[in-house]
Amino acid sequence: MDLMQGILTRRSVRSYRAQEKISKQELTDLLKAAMQAPSAMNKQPWSFVVIDKPDVLDKIQSIHPYAAFAKEAGTAIVICANRADSYEEYWKVDPLLAGQNILLAAHGLGLGACWCGVYPDEARMQTFAKLLNLPQNVLPMALITVGIPAHPVGAPAERYDSKKVHFNQW
Ligand SMILES: Cc1cc2nc3c(=O)[nH]c(=O)nc-3n(C[C@H](O)[C@H](O)[C@H](O)COP(=O)(O)O)c2cc1C
Repeated sequence: MDLMQGILTRRSVRSYRAQEKISKQELTDLLKAAMQAPSAMNKQPWSFVVIDKPDVLDKIQSIHPYAAFAKEAGTAIVICANRADSYEEYWKVDPLLAGQNILLAAHGLGLGACWCGVYPDEARMQTFAKLLNLPQNVLPMALITVGIPAHPVGAPAERYDSKKVHFNQW
């Protein structure tokens, strides 16, 4: 898929074929895409917790009701910020770019994915940190569900709005 076409046609996928899972190779490709993201001073202050055990996936719905479809997806990737590795406060930014790469790579591979927000919700961050046994300096930023879409991906949304573009001054 052409890169521009991929960017313009990506949509969130929330229903998955529950009997199927992404392959190990697909998972590796998604993580490769994530780690290829730009980062401040190239510090790459991220790590990834892959959740693929049904009993752990099952727990997600109680701590993040808007990510309940993680179980059906079969795989969830928690994007984490490694605060100690970060250049200044960019741990708040860099891992999110890695996450966007996962969404686009998943779409390019014909998989479905959905971003489920964790940061900056403190309570949610704490519950995920506990569930995943994260070290103190590692913060959960987002959870991305990945699986085989149950239906064709939604129609592309036309969002270009020239009123949001300013040249040289507002
Ligand atoms: C920071 C953030 C948090 C989000 N949290 C959730 C979520 O908890 N559950 C969910 O189903 N979708 C979540 N989404 C997905 C958005 O609802 C979705 O991207 C938006 O409606 C645009 O639709 P599209 O991704 O199909 O283009 C989140 C997206 C972002 C960027």
